Order: sequence, then structure tokens, then C-alpha cells
Amino acid sequence: MALLGVVIFSIVFVIATLVIGPSQFVKWFETPIATPTEIKPVDNLWQAPAETTIPTDASGDEIRYGRELIAHTADYLGPQGKVMAISNGMNCQNCHLDAGTKPFGNNYSAVASTYPKFRARSGSEETIEKRVNDCIERSLNGNALSNDSREMKAMVSYIKWLGTGVPKGESPKGSGLIELPYLNYPADSAKGKVAYEAKCVVCHGKNGEGIKAADATSWTYPPLWGKDSYNDGAGLYRLSRFAGYIKANMPLGSTYNEPQLSDEEAWNIAAYVNSLPRPEKDISSDWPDISKKPIDHPFGPFADGFNEQQHKYGPFAPIVETRKLKK
Ligand code: HEC
Ligand code: HEC
Repeated sequence: MALLGVVIFSIVFVIATLVIGPSQFVKWFETPIATPTEIKPVDNLWQAPAETTIPTDASGDEIRYGRELIAHTADYLGPQGKVMAISNGMNCQNCHLDAGTKPFGNNYSAVASTYPKFRARSGSEETIEKRVNDCIERSLNGNALSNDSREMKAMVSYIKWLGTGVPKGESPKGSGLIELPYLNYPADSAKGKVAYEAKCVVCHGKNGEGIKAADATSWTYPPLWGKDSYNDGAGLYRLSRFAGYIKANMPLGSTYNEPQLSDEEAWNIAAYVNSLPRPEKDISSDWPDISKKPIDHPFGPFADGFNEQQHKYGPFAPIVETRKLKK
């Protein structure tokens, strides 16, 4: 048997040497068999247009100013803002990562293509300006900009430029936030606290207070609750938005395909953070049609018979089922 093996090997060696040359064959033979690297999903995710495509004229200056405002909002519009003091000191980029370009990092890829659109929260057709002001009044716990201010025009121009090439009505792959599957039980803020203290506290602080930058006008690590954080009318106050955001983006450095939190941890941390005090907003005129409230909107009245506790922490599947039956 052994002899046969040697003979076969020699034949293969000779043929291979003749075909590809001796050095090549030896190289091939010595190359260790590569252990397959982890296969990443083929993504085809949306990518922001290249910066070099921003026009060099005045329209380009407006786009660049818009990007600057989104990345460094506090410097211009925060409590010590050089243009005006209308917001809480956070940057749009704290939540819309990499100036709104990161896949599943709450990016703006679907804004130009889908606005203006009807939104059930306001019960009206919303322009991009209205949507930007929603985030200023809620996520930045501030006061709206006028539509014809230089700052609003610049942010809208930047967001429109980002959407260049996205067909009208379409949301590209990787837009917005990931949708996490629901848990079959309520999210648990006590477990969330333990996970928070293990994985978030170094940057965001024991009391969610964040860490100010040396210039004291912006945050190196933004706050997660308390007076300087987003208010209770903000998107992140909904558990599904918070959990989807952190699953693909936190701790800092995480991505949608290299997450560092289990789904359960993401839901539990969302429950913990959003159970703590934060600024309150009068949202009594939100959701004029109460049957359109998202399942995780935590403020009643509701048309589906479930209480605020369940709408805030879940389990959400029974709510979804009940709503389907009502239709
Ligand atoms: C505290 C976090 C936070 C901050 C800060 C923030 N946003 Fe948002 N923003 C959100 C969340 C959450 C959503 C909703 C995402 C969803 O529902 O999928 C959102 C949605 C949006 C949308 C709509 C996106 C879409 O695809 O429909 C726009 C436009 C927007 N924000 C602009 C801004 C601008 C401009 C700023 C700064 C002035 C800002 N946001 C600051 C969290 C934030
Ligand atoms: C290594 C530091 C670091 C760690 C650890 C970290 N974060 Fe963050 N987090 C950041 C930074 C920096 C930003 C703002 C990103 C930017 O502006 O580009 C941020 C932004 C956020 C935001 C949106 C802005 C806000 O303040 O509301 C949330 C929510 C958040 N982090 C939650 C978490 C949670 C939950 C954990 C733990 C699972 C965590 N982070 C772990 C650094 C960190």
C-alpha cells in the first residue's frame, strides 16, 4: 500500500512539475490549507456618494456646511453654540453615525427618496425640514429652526446630496436601523443594568451622564439619560429603536455584522436606560389616530387594550397579533 502511495505521489509530482514548473508545484504543495475565514454576508449595502462629488461651487459649500452641522451640532447650536443656543449639546452624529452614512447606523440614505411623506405621529405630510426639527425638539430636546435659516437649508442640502442616486420611494439596504426580533417575555431592566455596567458604563457613566469633551461644548461620550439627554418624545425612547441602534452600533466599534450584544442584552439595556429619568416633552398632540401608535410607544391611551407597561417593555408579539385580528 505504502509503495503504491509513493508511486502515485511520484507520478503526480512529475506531471505537476511538467505542467506548472517545479518551483510553482513546490510552492503549491507547501502552502498550508487555509482555514476558511468567517464568511460575511454579501452585502450590497448602500454607500454614501464620494465626497469628491460635492460640487465646488456655492451649492457645495452649503452641503459641506450641512455635514459640519450634523457632525458638530453642539459647536453651532448647542448651549454654547456659535450660531444660536437652541439644543441640548448633543450632535446629530451621536445617533446618526459618521454624519448619517453608516450602514444600520441610523443613516440618512432613505430620506431624500421617501420625503415628503405622511407620518402617523403628527398625522400630517412631513417635509425633510419638519423631520429634522422633530429630532431637534426631541432627540436634541431643543427648539425648532426656521425652515429658511441658513442652518436648516444646509442640513437639508446635505441630506439630499447623500440620497443622490437612490430611486424615489426606495429605502436602500442598510438604511436606518436594524429591526430586532421580539422577545417572548418583557425586557428586563434589572438584567439590563448588569449588562450596562459591564459594557457601557466606561464611556457613558454610572448615571448615564456621559463625558464632556475638553472644550466643554460637546460630548466625547454623550449622555444616555438625565437632563442633557434626549427627551421622552424621541425615537430612542421607544425600546425597539434603542435596541436596534445599540445592537448594530454599541459598544462603540460594533457594526451590524460584528455586533457585541446578544438580542436579549440589547432589549434589556434598552429597558434599563429608558426606565431612568430624562426630560419630558408635551406630546399630547402626537398620534391623533391612536390606533396608529407603534406597538412600543409607551404612552396611552391605546386602541388595542394593552397597558402602558406592556407597550413599553413587551412582550410585543401578543400586541401585534391582537392588532392583526382587529384589521
Ligand atoms: C438621540 C439620538 C438622535 C439625535 C441626537 C438625532 N436623531 Fe435624528 N433620529 C433618531 C432616531 C431614533 C430616528 C428614527 C429612526 C427610525 O425610526 O428608524 C431619527 C430619524 C431622523 C430622520 C428621519 C430618517 C428617516 O429615514 O426617516 C432625520 C432626517 C433625522 N433624524 C435628522 C436628524 C438631525 C438633522 C439631527 C440633528 C439636528 C438628528 N436627527 C439628531 C435619533 C436621533
Ligand atoms: C468606548 C466607548 C463607548 C462604549 C463602551 C459605549 N458607547 Fe455608546 N457611544 C459612544 C460614543 C463616542 C457615541 C457617539 C458616537 C459619535 O458621535 O460618533 C455613543 C453613542 C451612543 C448612543 C446615542 C447617543 C446618545 O447618547 O443617546 C447610545 C444610545 C449609546 N451610545 C448607547 C450605548 C450602550 C447601551 C452601550 C453599552 C452596550 C454603549 N453605548 C457603549 C461611546 C461608547
